[in-house]
Amino acid sequence: MIDSSTIERILDAANISDVVSEFVTLKKRGVNQLGLCPFHNEKTPSFTVSPAKGIFKCFGCGKGGNSVNFVMELEQLSYPDALRWLAKKFHIEIEEKEESQEEKALKDERESMMIVSAFAQKYFSRYLLKENEGRTIGLSYLRERGIRDDIITKFELGFCPDGKDIFTQAATKEGFKMDFLEKTGLTIKRDDWIRDRFGGRVIFPVHNVAGRVIAFGGRTLTNDKKVAKYLNSPESEIYHKGKTLYGIFQAKRDITKLDKCFLVEGYTDVLSFHQAGIENVVASSGTSLTLDQIRLIRRFSPNITIVYDGDDAGIKASLRGIDMVLEEGINVKVLPLPRGEDPDSFARSMSAGELTEYIKINETDFIKFKTQLLMGTVENDPVSKARLINEIVRSISVIPDTITRTIYIKECSRLMDVQEAVLYSEIRKIQNKQSEDHTRKELQEIQIQASKPAAPVSEKKITNPFETEEREIMRILLKHFHEESFRFEDEETHQVRPYSVGYYVLSDLQNDGLISVNHCFRTMLETMEENIDNKEFDPVRYFTQHPDSEISQYASNLLSEKYTESKRWSRAGAFIETETELLPFLVPKLVQEYKLKNVKSLLKKLEHQINEANTTNDPEKLIEYMNQYMNLKQVVKDLSGEGLGFRTVS
Ligand code: CTP
Ligand code: MN
Repeated sequence: MIDSSTIERILDAANISDVVSEFVTLKKRGVNQLGLCPFHNEKTPSFTVSPAKGIFKCFGCGKGGNSVNFVMELEQLSYPDALRWLAKKFHIEIEEKEESQEEKALKDERESMMIVSAFAQKYFSRYLLKENEGRTIGLSYLRERGIRDDIITKFELGFCPDGKDIFTQAATKEGFKMDFLEKTGLTIKRDDWIRDRFGGRVIFPVHNVAGRVIAFGGRTLTNDKKVAKYLNSPESEIYHKGKTLYGIFQAKRDITKLDKCFLVEGYTDVLSFHQAGIENVVASSGTSLTLDQIRLIRRFSPNITIVYDGDDAGIKASLRGIDMVLEEGINVKVLPLPRGEDPDSFARSMSAGELTEYIKINETDFIKFKTQLLMGTVENDPVSKARLINEIVRSISVIPDTITRTIYIKECSRLMDVQEAVLYSEIRKIQNKQSEDHTRKELQEIQIQASKPAAPVSEKKITNPFETEEREIMRILLKHFHEESFRFEDEETHQVRPYSVGYYVLSDLQNDGLISVNHCFRTMLETMEENIDNKEFDPVRYFTQHPDSEISQYASNLLSEKYTESKRWSRAGAFIETETELLPFLVPKLVQEYKLKNVKSLLKKLEHQINEANTTNDPEKLIEYMNQYMNLKQVVKDLSGEGLGFRTVS
């Protein structure tokens, strides 16, 4: 943890022009400076830096903020990591706050494991490029496969000497402890023997988002079917396979810039795409996709194109990935490959231009993909067709965003020749069923909780059922606090006055006396309330630099995450409104959904209390609860009433 006085010194030193100039060529334009925006593709500069105010702003894509925000966004770093980045650039020594013994030990262990991994990577790379064995065996293998030298360098490929423990000996000689060699899996140790895990294999280092090596994949050079083609580092304190994507470090900038990510299966697929000039690509490394991996991609872009092998296993994996990705509010496309090809072999079989052209023509959205895949088998069989429709509708029903859902329903209707109304009613059926299941589960949980003796729970352990809504509300508040998106007519004077997003949200939430279990959310609302009329109050600056690191991180994460709500996929160049334009519509919708969810959860609690009062035969309590219940029911009715028809089923 960085202490607040250090943070202040970093912020003072981090001159915005110096920081931006590191990445963008700036030209003087009056008191400001102008350049090409690094966050989106543009030919005429609309990216402005104001040294006086210490901020940047792009009038093309709308991104803006201070030095820290710039580094966070561009390097895709967390708030503390961005501070560390700046501290390094401006030569400020960081005084990290005291940590507990336990934290320290854990951090030291992780750090040591990363350091030994970094050493191993350098050792393997040097061995591949400089040593005789590495060159004649490893390097010639890679060259034979057509992998260019610049790609070998970019991905820091290497070779581990073929022998029992040549690498381990070298590492020990350099002073690295056996403990960490073992924990990272570089060395395998049993009671009476020691050996290198990756001996005789070509090495693919796995980097985390920040570019540090956390694991390795080693490919055998033999064709022997009995030998595992790849060996990978084991799970460890620094490497969680399900949370990692191969290539994310090398891809993140282009994923952000092109607002799209290709997802392939293997190491070599990533390499070949880069070689063809397509750099926004990551691999799930042979395992089926996990939620954490999807969320990692979504930090950079909500648009994913799945490119899996052109065989039955690959198609199956694509289908499995689709619903999971959709559920996370991501727009998913599929790029089918000819049978027998994988992204690697396919990319190498043509020129970079041809590949781009192939992608342009063959990339299909998931509805077309599923339909084309399954349609051939149904043709004139109404029962199979119904099943296919149901299958596709199921996928559409998990999409959280109403507008995206609407677009897909239109497409499905056209492709399958079914009326939209029919599809909508199918979706409603599925959603009702899901919501019933959900309610039942929640009730069961309440009952289980009630039957347990009351245990003291710390605030941290409480899961927040309104997390999603609160995050979105807070994100909007941070970004648009003073934005005057609303009009208010004074009843007496009939004067129309503008009022701000902050005012709208705070007064509305206050009226209902909702209290969040999230301490950050609560504290931030309080501070905002105190500053409601203070035009100087800059919530982004204030909260991202807040001394309570939980708050500054909460705020920074909100600002660096990309929400699908605010950034709808533009299909075929369709015009999409900017978030500011959407505010008058978006803000009431958000607040209302938040309140509705709150009230519904209260209702559920009451239902339970009523049941209990019933069984314990307590008429007084029963009447009190019933009254509350009826009141709340009315609130639900009001909240979901006419004129607010855009509410989605929760
Ligand atoms: N994989 C693995 N262990 C294996 C086989 C595969 O971990 N025994 C993972 C690797 O990450 C690999 C990915 O699954 O990159 C895809 O497997 P596959 O398609 O078989 O390998 P390729 O990447 O195509 O490798 P190559 O081109 O060298 O055959
Ligand atoms: Mn493959």
